[in-house]
Amino acid sequence: MSVGIDEISFYTSSYYFDLRTLAEIQNTDPEKYYVGIGQEKMGMAAPDEDIVTMAANAALPLIERVGTDAISTLMFATETGIDQSKAAGVYVHRLLGLNANCRVVELKQACYSATAALQMACALVAREPQRKVLVIASDIARYDLGTPGEATQGCGAVAMLISANPRLVSIDPEVGNYTEDVMDFWRPNYRGTALVDGKYSTKIYLKSLKKAWESFREASRLEFADLSRFCYHLPFSRMAQKAHQHLAKLNKVGLEPEQVEAQIEPTLSYNRTIGNSYTASLYIGLCSLLETCRDNLSGQRIGFFSYGSGCVAEFFSGTVREGYAEHLHRERHRQMLDARESLSHEEYLKLYHYPNPTDGGEHEMPHVTRGRFRLAAISHHKREYVPC
Ligand code: CAA
Repeated sequence: MSVGIDEISFYTSSYYFDLRTLAEIQNTDPEKYYVGIGQEKMGMAAPDEDIVTMAANAALPLIERVGTDAISTLMFATETGIDQSKAAGVYVHRLLGLNANCRVVELKQACYSATAALQMACALVAREPQRKVLVIASDIARYDLGTPGEATQGCGAVAMLISANPRLVSIDPEVGNYTEDVMDFWRPNYRGTALVDGKYSTKIYLKSLKKAWESFREASRLEFADLSRFCYHLPFSRMAQKAHQHLAKLNKVGLEPEQVEAQIEPTLSYNRTIGNSYTASLYIGLCSLLETCRDNLSGQRIGFFSYGSGCVAEFFSGTVREGYAEHLHRERHRQMLDARESLSHEEYLKLYHYPNPTDGGEHEMPHVTRGRFRLAAISHHKREYVPC
């Protein structure tokens, strides 16, 4: 019996900010962003959008198909949690109307935790193949204004249904892991934005790739040449290009530019216009591959590299299933991305500085989102979510 991803859906904010506008304001060459880091736009959450509303929007189409009683466990991966205690997934559980007997938990290890959730979900399904697990990853990437990280902001959520005999991708049980206590990127509890040692973080990312790959090679019989496509964690799309060259070199494989293009480019399309979505980015990359690649991917093996600063990394693999193309949400995703509104620099700054009330008063949020769920208010320190 195979276990893996049966269905995948993502969601991002109603607004985006174009990096061309940012470059103009900063008097920087826009090509630095469009080409140098490979990013074009970044998602900006409206005041009534957050990790919960994006998550519920991402998961809704899956639940509409399988029904609210089908889910035995909801795992919510995030590094931009809204509460130190309560799992964000509990709000999503109510918004989606899931069964009261469904287990809910939140997982954290920077951008890596969605992969921990996926692997745990596969293990749960292997134990009880009749159950389905809902894995959601949702994040809002924020850095201080005027820092090199600013252009790599973004937001998004991805929802994956994990089941036996999955229709999209079966996940292989062999994995390679690497963990090291480093300070490349972190966000202390008292900060709304991340701190990052940018150049160092890219070096640690590549070192972790090498170590996780070596660990994977000990666990799996698969070699570099057995993998047709590669999905990398995507803090910005150029990072995946660098990572792929690095991995090829480690394996003493000389890749032609068109091979690099074929092996990773289709994974980058959505990320270029959403920006970094931390935990979600690797799986939005998978969604991008399945939905934008013109080739038939049936039977092809994918290599996945998941990286969470701090750091924990994992290399694993999966195989695309026959008939996968009939079970995608391509058109809905395209419409959602097309419907987004562009922000001026003033509007971007206004959203960036939108107050996060902490006084316990009653604060209603303007109705802005185009999504099916919204954060209606924060009153008496409680977040109030409603369907639209
Ligand atoms: N035309 C084309 N390319 C240009 C250019 C131009 N006019 N100007 C510059 N470039 C190129 C540069 O040559 C460089 O390319 P290479 O890396 O191939 O040399 C690229 O654009 C970026 O330029 P800089 O190195 O000068 O960029 P920077 O120092 O201003 O910022 C960064 C880069 C440090 C990664 C910064 O974006 C950052 O701090 N980002 C946040 C941290 C991050 O994403 N780290 C990734 C690893 S950690 C992780 O993965 C976890 C996570 O999600 C955060």
